[in-house]
Amino acid sequence: MSSDVNKPPILVTRAIFPEVIARLAEHFTVESNPDDTLWDRAELVRRLQGKVGVFTTGVERVDADLLARCPSLKICANMTVGYNNFDLAAMTAAGVLGTNAPDVLTETTADFGFALLMATARRVTESEHFLRAGHWTRWSYDMFSGAEVHGSTLGILGMGRIGQAIARRGALGFGMQVIYHNRSPLSDALEQECKARYVSKEELLKTADHLVLVVPYSAASHHAIGAAELALMKPTATLINIARGGVVDDAALAQALKDRVIAAAGLDVFEGEPSVHPALLQVPNVVLTPHIASATEGTRRAMAKLAVDNLVGYLVHGRAVTALNPEVASRT
Ligand code: DGY
Repeated sequence: MSSDVNKPPILVTRAIFPEVIARLAEHFTVESNPDDTLWDRAELVRRLQGKVGVFTTGVERVDADLLARCPSLKICANMTVGYNNFDLAAMTAAGVLGTNAPDVLTETTADFGFALLMATARRVTESEHFLRAGHWTRWSYDMFSGAEVHGSTLGILGMGRIGQAIARRGALGFGMQVIYHNRSPLSDALEQECKARYVSKEELLKTADHLVLVVPYSAASHHAIGAAELALMKPTATLINIARGGVVDDAALAQALKDRVIAAAGLDVFEGEPSVHPALLQVPNVVLTPHIASATEGTRRAMAKLAVDNLVGYLVHGRAVTALNPEVASRT
């Protein structure tokens, strides 16, 4: 732990780039976790005692109970854009600022969404497993025949920044017709830029050849895709989840994949991750990746830097860059 009596104490919950710790240490007394030990909640609470700030990675649950037990806390800075680990209402009530890391990961995450779509539609991992297992002994006309991507209909559920970046890739790069559903439609100018058309959720489900989920997780989006929604989709469709586990009912999806209600799925996020529903591991027509959509070195550095900017900005200069509950900041 770097220590200086005049520097406010903060906690970094997981191992992170050395430059992050070095920059934080210029301003704070930093307790870090270089061994990347997974602390349980009791340990996290213990280490948060006396800390004014915490650098979080999007999974540490910050709720009323934790806040009551950590009264010195002023800011929790996620290095992720998703912040479903924060109970923002409880944080606001406790006068604790929450920040996330938007924008810096948009294009990288959209790239990965497309990679997963391509791998799923064209059966990349399934056919690789077949080859590695030594089953490739001859050519056949229908071997690993997949779904067309170019010129098909791309559906997007959740049309924030990442959804828009995926739409641009689909429309401009692959000549896809792009339809989307969102809480509210985009402006005409943005729709034109993304070449995307707003449709009802039902039309989205019924029409998309490839449906990409980019909607933030909340009580409202919990199991937005379950058995009933999957039943509306085309039997030839693919489903891609780069949003959050919990947006999809994984048990229902595994059953739908087994029964060929839809053709295939590509999943980067899971309910209860890092556990994966065992039934998903049994079906061949799903591509599974361990929540890596934003994982390029440059992007992960940019995400971590934004979390540091928020900690330094708020605790040293009184102003965070990407505050989620700015009303807290204006109260101090
Ligand atoms: C995010 O930033 O929310 C991503 O899911 C983390 O990789």
